[in-house]
Amino acid sequence: MSRLTFRALPDYIDFETTRKLRALAKHLINSPDYISPFPNAISIKKSGLKALVEIDSLADRVQKSLETASGKKSLTLDKVLFQFSSSSDVNQKTLPYLPHFDKRRLLKGMLYLTDVMEENGPIHFAEPISPLSIEKRRRALPVNYKERLLNCVSNEELVSRPVPILGPAGTLIIFDTNNPHHAGLIKDGFSRLSIRFDFVTRRFFTFSS
Ligand SMILES: [Fe+2]
Repeated sequence: MSRLTFRALPDYIDFETTRKLRALAKHLINSPDYISPFPNAISIKKSGLKALVEIDSLADRVQKSLETASGKKSLTLDKVLFQFSSSSDVNQKTLPYLPHFDKRRLLKGMLYLTDVMEENGPIHFAEPISPLSIEKRRRALPVNYKERLLNCVSNEELVSRPVPILGPAGTLIIFDTNNPHHAGLIKDGFSRLSIRFDFVTRRFFTFSS
C-alpha cells in the first residue's frame, strides 16, 4: 500500500476556474455569515457546502486525489478552510513556524489560489527518517503538548531540511499531517490566498515501514 507524504499537483485547476474561486474566496472571507477561526479565514463544514456547489464538487475531486495517493478509501470531509494570509510580525521560534506534526492526524489538500513563491510564505515539508516514531509520539502527546513543543521535530529526525512547496495559482498540495511540516514566513508586502480541504479517515494507520 502506498504511503502519502506530500505531493504538489501543478495545474490542478485551470486558469479561469482559479480566477472564479479567488473571487469566491475573497467574498466568503469578507462575509459576516461565516465563522472565522482566526482573522481573514472562514471554516465551512460539509453540511455548509450545499450552498456552494462548486466547492462541494471540488472537495469530492480532492478527496479522490487523496484516496488515490494514500491508498485510503474511507475519507470523510472534516472542513474546508478559506484563508487569506499576509505579512505580520511572528515569532519564528514558535509553532507553526517550527517543523512539527499535528496532534490530530488528517489528510489535507491545499489549493493555492494565488501564485506562491518564496516571498508568499509557502508551506514547507521534510520526510521523517522514521514515520513510525512520529506516529508513536503523536499518540502519546499530552494535553499541554503545544506549550512544551512536544509535537516539534528536530533536524536529526529528518531525512533532509524542510523544503518550500512553491507553485502557481491552481496548484494543489496534498499531504498527511504526520509528515513534518512548517508554515512559511510571508515577506512584507506579500500575501497568499488558499483553500484547504481537511479529511479524516477511520483507518489511521498501520505502517509497513
Ligand atoms: Fe501543522
